[in-house]
This record gives sequence, C-alpha cells and structure tokens, in this order.
Amino acid sequence: MKVAAFLFDLDGVLVDTAKYHFLAWRKMANALGFDFTHEQNEQLKGVGRVQSLEIILGWGGKTLSQEEKNHWMHQKNAWYQTFIADMNPDEILPGALAFLEKTKALGLKIALGSASRNAPVILEKTGLRHWFEAVVDGNVVSASKPNPEVYLKGAELLEVAPTACVVFEDAVSGMEAAQNAGMPCVGIGNADQLSNTIITVKGLHQITPEAIITLVKS
Ligand code: BG6
Ligand code: MG
Repeated sequence: MKVAAFLFDLDGVLVDTAKYHFLAWRKMANALGFDFTHEQNEQLKGVGRVQSLEIILGWGGKTLSQEEKNHWMHQKNAWYQTFIADMNPDEILPGALAFLEKTKALGLKIALGSASRNAPVILEKTGLRHWFEAVVDGNVVSASKPNPEVYLKGAELLEVAPTACVVFEDAVSGMEAAQNAGMPCVGIGNADQLSNTIITVKGLHQITPEAIITLVKS
C-alpha cells in the first residue's frame, strides 16, 4: 500500500506542552497536600484528563467525590489555559515545520490526532492550524487513546485507507492507538519506552518524510 497520509499527535510531537500540563497538575497536587516528580509525569503523556486525575490522586493516596474531581479538573484546566495563552510559534519543536513542509511537498495529506480539548487554541497560538486538512482532538472523540478512534477518524476525514497512514506519537497510549488502528507508528522520544514503532527518534529534526516512506515500504 502506498503511503498517502501522515497523522500527527500534537503534545510532545509538534509542541512541548507536557511541561505546562505538569505545572498545572502539580499545582493541583500541591493544593491537595502532596507532590509528584517529573519522572512520574512521564506516565501522564497522552493520557486523557479524567484518567490523568485518577492516576495523580492515586499517587497522593487521595479519595475524592465526583463533585470534587470535577472541581479540580476544571481548576487544573484553567491553570493550564493561562500557560498556553502565551504560547507562540517559537514553541514548535525542532524540525517540525520543515517536516510538515516536506510532507506537503510530497503530496501527502496531513491530519492531527490529539487527545487534548485544548488543541484548537494551541494550533492557533503556534500558527500550526493551516497545515492540517483534518483536525481530530479531544472535543470530537469519545474514546481516548489507546482506542484507535482518533486516528481512524483522521483517516476517514482525509478519505484515506488506514493502511495508507503513518502515525507520529510520543506516548505509549498513542503508539498503541496507532497499532489498534492498523497504522505504522513513528516514535518520538525514548526508544526504551516506545516499542512497536517502525523507528523511534528524538524528534522530527532527525528524520525526513522520504525516509519514513522508504521504511514503511521495506
Ligand atoms: C494529551 C496530553 O495530548 O492530551 C495529556 O499528552 C493530556 O497530557 C491530554 O492530559 C488531554 O488534554 P486536555 O488539554 O484536554 O486536558
Ligand atoms: Mg503526545
């Protein structure tokens, strides 16, 4: 099957928003009387808002009512939104723009597949929106990664077969979502953490679209 589209995760692949999620969740944990580390934060990558809260409360040994959980998710998101309100194109990760440009020049279709409900704001602040023919984010999917919905919907909107898509992911849950969608996945980050990828690199600056297409074909 010929590669016809690239589907990109947002947080950790095109922009580094993990640091803002960390700051906001940590502020919440501190308000509840505990703390967690940068290493623990790695486990939250790609994980949706509700599940992230459950994991963090588990670390702090806290049991909250549904009403309290709703309050803290709302508060965390308000803090997070103040951080991303100041984002600008300088926060696009190294190599991402050149990679998108080459992808487009090769005639491939491009979609976004993000778990975040804040994806539209981030795309607007960083000036990335115009690269995507389809945007699938946390506002339109019902099942979070590793469910393949986000990527299958992306393929559907682009009118491309799932087998003709390649996914770019930095999180284990996202890599599994790609796998569950039947799409080859390029890992962005640590090769020890991301298995089942066709290749794992530190960032988009280390690869080219042409190299990925050759890898998929081989
Ligand atoms: C993912 C992030 O992209 O989106 C997670 O990697 C985050 O850390 C998830 O929890 C949901 O984001 P949001 O902005 O809807 O809370
Ligand atoms: Mg990510």
